[in-house]
Amino acid sequence: MKSTDISMDQNLGVLTTGTGNPVTKNQTSMTAGYYGPVLIQDFHLIDKLAHFDRERIPERVVHAKGAGAHGYFEVTKDISHLSCAKFLSDVGKRTPVFTRFSTVGGELGSADTARDPRGFAVKFYTEEGNWDMVGNNTPIFFIRDPIKFPDFIHTQKRDPRTHLKNPDMQWDFWSHVPEALHQVTILFSNRGTPDGYRHMHGYSSHTLKLVNSEGVAHYVKWHFRTNQGIKNLSAARAAELEGSDPDYATRDLFEAIERGEHPSWTVYIQVMTEEEAFNYKYNVFDVTKVVSQKDFPLQEVGRMVLDRNPENYFAEVEQAAFSPSHMVPGIAPSPDRMLQGRLFSYPDTHRHRLGGNYLQLPINKPLSPVRTHQRDGPMALGDNGGRLPNYEPNSFGGPAENQAARELDVHTRLDGLVGRHSYELTDADFEQPRALYRLLSDQERQDLVENIAGNIAKAKLVFQRRIVEHLKRIDSDYGGRVEVILKEKNHEY
Ligand code: HEM
Repeated sequence: MKSTDISMDQNLGVLTTGTGNPVTKNQTSMTAGYYGPVLIQDFHLIDKLAHFDRERIPERVVHAKGAGAHGYFEVTKDISHLSCAKFLSDVGKRTPVFTRFSTVGGELGSADTARDPRGFAVKFYTEEGNWDMVGNNTPIFFIRDPIKFPDFIHTQKRDPRTHLKNPDMQWDFWSHVPEALHQVTILFSNRGTPDGYRHMHGYSSHTLKLVNSEGVAHYVKWHFRTNQGIKNLSAARAAELEGSDPDYATRDLFEAIERGEHPSWTVYIQVMTEEEAFNYKYNVFDVTKVVSQKDFPLQEVGRMVLDRNPENYFAEVEQAAFSPSHMVPGIAPSPDRMLQGRLFSYPDTHRHRLGGNYLQLPINKPLSPVRTHQRDGPMALGDNGGRLPNYEPNSFGGPAENQAARELDVHTRLDGLVGRHSYELTDADFEQPRALYRLLSDQERQDLVENIAGNIAKAKLVFQRRIVEHLKRIDSDYGGRVEVILKEKNHEY
């Protein structure tokens, strides 16, 4: 028997109803006589149908298709001078994790090999509650203001009229938001089609904050570097797999772990003092920008190993609720606008997708004790707080605040007037994609221009021309080569 086979060979006894009553017949509904109608007194039938009718919950509005696995994070280098987070306190210390990888734009049943960023979300079950590192396999993102996110995602999803993917929506949007072209360049490079989930890096993308026990803050970017080596699919192979094995990455992760090949990532941070962060040549809180590793080299922190598959996909992977706002003392948000928007958006969607008590689901529940004054609501699991007081202050020894616990974020520097302060497009927005383009090998550049031109060619000429102008501003060779291919494809260009 293979370990991926459905069930172990064991006798689990009598089938029961949801209420635990033995089921006598599971193949035949109860009827009034042989030709008579089905009876409403058949609790087993009605419960079975009614439960089935409710099997689907809303899929994630983005990142719907994914795969996950359990494992651990182990500290390999001491960074206790940077963060008071207890799970980072000692070299050798291990913390259980659950990691989910995903594509972004497709629905739950969509193909794993689509050209798309990959989600890289890690839940650390620490002794001070959960920390979720909800990143991607790219160090940057398309936009830098959360107010743009719903519009951006609409352009990646289906046309509201035809229910088809529409390249006009996608390229129209990007042509209006040239700061996206840094990420678009990564997306249309070979990194846009990674060979499964094991062969890619993960990034926090945003700058986050670490706070030590003296209250001193540093700004950091997290990097999870694959120990399996980077491997990408060619555009042709990715397209072929979309048809022949749409669950390619899900299968690859599951089967590798079953074989005992446990994928691992070495975890690093780039560290900036507050002074350095606020005075860097680029805005380190603008998620369309990287922070150079020459200026801020990677410092090792630990490693993540995934060594156990879920026992049940829905319970563990589908119900997993990651949020950048799930933080522990010693890790704090930064003023990155996108991150700030995300702090709201994730728990909001979890309450919609999973219900108000989503944190009580076993996959989301911290391993450390949870003692809140929250009560009731749909699907309150466990003892719902039992007889303990549900308010504070109280005189009955209920859970009380601890003023010694470090607040998530202390000493954040703020100034300025409330307002809608726009990020204006500047030459700086073209410098990093230019450096990236010039870093690519000849073959990688050729793949990039072919991938991008092949896709833009499906959009209207006006968008093609606009994008080519932006690409020329990045590098005349980049835009020029894309233009040549577009002209070959369309003589009206
Ligand atoms: C999933 C919103 C930007 C990474 C999601 C979900 C929402 C969302 C609503 C579905 C969550 C769920 O149903 O559990 C947003 C908003 C953004 C934003 C409003 C910008 C303002 C980003 C960025 C990254 C990212 C910049 C990476 C750095 C992810 C990942 C998931 C996800 C990895 C899937 C988590 C999982 O595996 O369950 N996002 N997102 N998102 N997002 Fe974002």
